[in-house]
Amino acid sequence: MVRRSCIVGCGSYLPSQVMTNDDLAKRVDTSDEWITQRTGIKSRHIAAPGELTSDLALAAAREALAAAGMPGEALDLIVLATATPDNTFPATATKVQAALGMRGGAAFDVQAVCSGFVYALAIADNFIRLGQARNALVIGAETFSRLLDWNDRTTCVLFGDGAGAVVLQATEGTGGNADRGILSTHLHSEGQHYGLLWVDGGPSSTQTTGHLRMSGQEVFRHAVTRLAEVVEEALHANGLRPADIDWLVPHQANRRIIDSTARKLALPVDKIVLTVDHHGNTSAASIPLALAEAVNDGRIRPGQLVLMEAMGGGLTWGASLVRM
Ligand code: COA
Repeated sequence: MVRRSCIVGCGSYLPSQVMTNDDLAKRVDTSDEWITQRTGIKSRHIAAPGELTSDLALAAAREALAAAGMPGEALDLIVLATATPDNTFPATATKVQAALGMRGGAAFDVQAVCSGFVYALAIADNFIRLGQARNALVIGAETFSRLLDWNDRTTCVLFGDGAGAVVLQATEGTGGNADRGILSTHLHSEGQHYGLLWVDGGPSSTQTTGHLRMSGQEVFRHAVTRLAEVVEEALHANGLRPADIDWLVPHQANRRIIDSTARKLALPVDKIVLTVDHHGNTSAASIPLALAEAVNDGRIRPGQLVLMEAMGGGLTWGASLVRM
């Protein structure tokens, strides 16, 4: 019997403050036209002062648990993907664990920047497949607004804050349910590109938090190539063809990167869940935010095949195929 991780609930949270491209044009030398053309972003949400990554994560987690009809005490694993933890340590996941009333099991953070959710999903899936967890909460939560250099127009226009979460449950599927759940996960990194997308601070190097720095064009180039490769790898591993995909739920960094992946798969635009226009790049939160939006509005339905993919600092990248 195949033991798989099924997604049984999705949740999301966005801070109430919305920052438009026009708002940004009042702070730096940019325009709605430039940002829209180069990235597809129109607006993003920004956390309120004092609103922390754990607050965003907790709100998304509560919604995902409610959708799953599962109390927090039933969880035995929390994996939280973030590059913007509340504190250097302990893991933000442990704060969420306490707030959810989860007493046993394990809670920890994963750091793979914008690939964080795909990494966290793979880790939780492996725990479940090995029988080390039954009910896992996987969260992507970020307050990237706190890492931005608000005088640098090449980066500050790209990112936003938010959180998304999914509840995974172990299923020993038989019959009609046998093919449901996470089919496979595929992770990669290439550390020689550390300096292409990084934060110029940290406890060991500068004892400051630092600011996000990026070689945008090079990241773009790697993203287009690596995402096409990993998508192909995921399909091949499952003996599937691009036409079998019902939904592409990509990391939402840039509309042009998403379009490039979709073109390589020959996927029509109405099979892509797009949130980049109203969320911007929320790093590890972007895939679970998009997934929650499309599950909760009824676009993604049980039994459909969903492909997720992401690329982030490290460089890291990965993909996952899920039968909902
Ligand atoms: N507003 C107006 N002009 C801007 C600008 C802004 N916000 N940011 C940069 N520019 C200017 C540049 O200064 C440059 O001007 P110049 O030609 O006079 O030197 C010009 O626009 C073109 O800059 P360039 O960096 O070549 O633009 P681009 O087409 O590569 O787009 C990004 C820049 C960042 C949008 C693009 O490289 C990108 O999306 N990269 C990937 C980023 C990403 O996804 N990162 C996260 C991965 S998880």
